[in-house]
Amino acid sequence: MTGKTILIGQVLSFHGSPFEGEAAAAVRLDGAIRVEAGRIVAVGGADRLKADAPDARVIDHGNRVIMAGFVDAHVHYPQTAIIASWGKRLIDWLNTYTFPEETRFGDADYAREIAARYLDLTAAHGVTTMCSYCTIHPASVEAFFSAAQARGQRVVAGKTCMDRNAPEELRDTAQSAYDDSKALLTRWHGVDRLGYAITPRFAPTSSPEQLSALGALWAEHPDCLMQTHLSEQVDEIEWVRGLYPEARDYLDIYETHGLLGARGIYGHSIHLEPRERDRLAETGAALAHCPTSNTFIGSGLFDMAGLIAQGQRVGLASDTGGGSSFSMLRTMAAAYEVAQLRGHALHPAQLLWLATVGSARALHLDHLIGNAVAGNEADLVVLDLASTPAIAQRAERAGDIWEALFATIMMGDDRAIADVWIGGKQCGAVSRA
Ligand code: GUN
Ligand code: ZN
Repeated sequence: MTGKTILIGQVLSFHGSPFEGEAAAAVRLDGAIRVEAGRIVAVGGADRLKADAPDARVIDHGNRVIMAGFVDAHVHYPQTAIIASWGKRLIDWLNTYTFPEETRFGDADYAREIAARYLDLTAAHGVTTMCSYCTIHPASVEAFFSAAQARGQRVVAGKTCMDRNAPEELRDTAQSAYDDSKALLTRWHGVDRLGYAITPRFAPTSSPEQLSALGALWAEHPDCLMQTHLSEQVDEIEWVRGLYPEARDYLDIYETHGLLGARGIYGHSIHLEPRERDRLAETGAALAHCPTSNTFIGSGLFDMAGLIAQGQRVGLASDTGGGSSFSMLRTMAAAYEVAQLRGHALHPAQLLWLATVGSARALHLDHLIGNAVAGNEADLVVLDLASTPAIAQRAERAGDIWEALFATIMMGDDRAIADVWIGGKQCGAVSRA
C-alpha cells in the first residue's frame, strides 16, 4: 500500500476567473489527478500520471467530471432540522422556526447529533468546506469543530452572538460574547483544518456595545474571519435604520464598530446602497450570495453582474436552513435563475467557479482549496453527468462539456455526486464508484 491514488476522468481546473475570459476554465478529457498524503500532487494526462506512479491505486471514473469539492460560503448548521419551513418572511421566520430550534443547542448531545447529520448530508452533496454560524452556545461550536476535525475536514465556524431582540435563552452579553468567542478561537483557530469566524448574527440582534466588543476581538485576532448578515430584506433594513438612526447605512454600523475588513464575509448583501458597494469593494470584503434562500424567504435578487463588474469578492452559499437545499448544484441553479431575472446569463464555468474558487476566495482559503491543481488539499468531487434518465438524455445531446455540465447544474442533486474526497480520503458513505 503506497498511499498514492490516481483518479481518472474529465478533470476540471481553473487557471483564472471565467468572469474575465473563457480560457480560465479547462476540462481535460482522459485527465487524471494524483492524490498523496492529503494533497493533490499532480494533475495531467491519465497515461503520464500512471506512468509516473506505476505503484499507485487507480480509480477510473470514465467520463465523469473530477473537480474540487464544493465550498459553501455561508450556512447555519443548527438550522438543518428546520430547513424548508413554510411561509414566512425573514424576521417572522427567525422568530417562528429558527430561534426555537437554536435554543436546543445548549444540549451538547443534540448539537453533536445535528453536526454529524449536517456533515453527512453535505458530504453526500459534494460540499467539502463550509463557513457556518453556530448558536450562542459554546457547545454548538465545540460539536461542529470536533465533528469536522474527526473527519479531517476544512471548515470555518463561530459562535453566533446576540444580546438583544432574541429570546432570553438565546441572549449572551457584550462581555460574554467577547469572552466565549475568545476562548473558542484560542482553542480552535488554526488547529488542523479548522478556522474561526467571529460571528455577530446581524445588527438588530447585537447592541452597539456587543458590536464594539467583537470589533475589538477581531482587531486582536486579525487572522480570524468575521461573518455577519447585511441588507437581506427591505423590512429588515427599515428596522436596522430605526435601531441605529445615526448610521449612514447598514454597512456603516459594522464599520463604526470595527466590523468591516477584507476578512469579513457579508451574507446576502442584496439591497446595497452605492456607498456600501464602494466601501465593500475598497475594503476587499466578501459577499456571500445565497440564491435559494433569497428566493425562498422572498428577500430579493442579488446583483451578480454589477457586483462582479465592480471587482467585488463574491462567494456562493446555500444559507442552510434559510436556503432550501444542502446542494451546491441546486444553489448554482438558483444563482443562474436569479441572474436571469436580472437580465444576465451566467455561464456554467462561472457557476462552478463561484461554488469552488469564488467561495474559497471569500474565505481566504483559495491557496489551499477550491481548485483541482497540484499543491492544493485533496478535497474533490466526482460528478456523474448522467445521474437520472432526464439528465442523461439531455447530456447525450450536449454539444460540448459545458452544455453537459449545465444539465447537471440545472437538474442534478446528490445522485450526481459519484464520489467525494476530503483531505485525501474517500468518503465511504458517498462513493458510488
Ligand atoms: N439574518 C439574521 N439571522 C439570519 C438567519 O439565520 N438566516 C437568514 N437567512 N438571515 C438571517
Ligand atoms: Zn445566514
